[in-house]
Amino acid sequence: MNSAPPISVQGLNHSYGKGELKKQILFDVSVEIRAGEIVIVTGPSGSGKTTMLTLVGALRSAQEGSVQVLGEELRNAKPATLEKVRRQIGFIFQQHNLLGALSALQNVELGIRASGKFPRSEHRERARDILGAVGLGERIDHKPDQLSGGQRQRVAIARALVSEPAMVLADEPTASLDKDSGREVVDRLKFLAKEHGTTILLVTHDNRILDIADRIVHLEDGCISTFTDAVIANNRHMMEMLANNRQKQPVDELVDKLSEHEFQDLLQDITDESERFLETTALANNVAFRSMLDKGLFAFTRKLAILLNAERSSLFLVEGNELVLKVAENLEEMGEVRIPLGSGIAGAVAQGREAIRIDDAYSDPRFNREVDRQTGFRTRSILCLPVKNLNGEVFAVAQLLNRKDGQPFDQADEHRFAHFIQSIGVIFETQLGLGGR
Ligand SMILES: Nc1ncnc2c1ncn2[C@@H]1O[C@H](COP(=O)(O)OP(=O)(O)O)[C@@H](O)[C@H]1O
Ligand SMILES: [Mg+2]
Repeated sequence: MNSAPPISVQGLNHSYGKGELKKQILFDVSVEIRAGEIVIVTGPSGSGKTTMLTLVGALRSAQEGSVQVLGEELRNAKPATLEKVRRQIGFIFQQHNLLGALSALQNVELGIRASGKFPRSEHRERARDILGAVGLGERIDHKPDQLSGGQRQRVAIARALVSEPAMVLADEPTASLDKDSGREVVDRLKFLAKEHGTTILLVTHDNRILDIADRIVHLEDGCISTFTDAVIANNRHMMEMLANNRQKQPVDELVDKLSEHEFQDLLQDITDESERFLETTALANNVAFRSMLDKGLFAFTRKLAILLNAERSSLFLVEGNELVLKVAENLEEMGEVRIPLGSGIAGAVAQGREAIRIDDAYSDPRFNREVDRQTGFRTRSILCLPVKNLNGEVFAVAQLLNRKDGQPFDQADEHRFAHFIQSIGVIFETQLGLGGR
């Protein structure tokens, strides 16, 4: 097999319209897809997904940049070249595009005839086989209007795959289907593709099917971004803010600027979204997700310090019989900090399962001065809280040091702190569930 990637898009720009009405839709899009890979392009409606797909599928002429597909450069290519590439691709569209007057079998036969790939005498047999493979062996003589939406879309898959194309391009194949039919359709697609090493580029804004992908790229406002950005983009609240700020501001600076109320809303959104996201992707891409959560935890822990007017904040996770320092101002220079349960203030909180407030750390025998010595910080007051999971087990400890006005932390501080900690509990749990450290 040719080692060049079957799809290689570089610096692709695309505009619709002319003169005053000209509107650029794709901006410097670059993406490469390896043989046998299933890549999903996500992105909101209007972001340019279909445009990108039709350019890759040689259904539209590329204007600027390079689009290499199955060994051919499509930009400025002759019609015969475009036609040759098209014939090697199986297309699946949002609407099944079956011919209503023909049976399922005849529709699929049409697909194989168009490819010009197999002898005429094999067409019927192959069409029958693939309809069996998508679970429609009993319905080959049905016409489209005698089939359900999911069944029609499976006929469309059969039609796209019957000629064993090197590549399948699918545009929102589950858009008109309910959850279960959508699932079945993409599962069949994946199964057949993996069996034959078919390369698949599938565009969708249905995040219930993301887990079939080997890789996910995100298209937004005509620009490609990474999967981590896609996760962020899935968060309604975050999406709006980051859309304007993505390049300029890292997440933590952004969080710093929020009011207490906005911060609460953001936490709620993120926890909801974390849960939903985990359900929908079945952890398929948890590395990227974890790195986003790491950044989020860091930002939130810092934000707590700001909201509660503390000089420092830190977060420990319970690991076996120890606490591991997870977020702190100068985590990197400190290296890995592990504290036995029961030792120091945080250790006492983890074990006692109750908040501890200390007005003067150096007069409390439980306080461990070693960390201050290492970091050159001088701890005065402490507010330290257990973070419990739904079963009431302590799995993390959050700590604030030194109220900035020099006063000790009071009952009101403790309440607010407890309130926030509760909100981010889900994020912590998500992280632990992912094996994050
Ligand atoms: N043939 C066309 N002529 C002019 N504008 C178009 C055409 N096709 C799509 N657009 C515009 O390009 C943008 C991207 O469309 P599309 O690629 O269909 O996005 P998506 O598939 O992500 O929803 C939209 O604003 C759409 O209105
Ligand atoms: Mg579209």
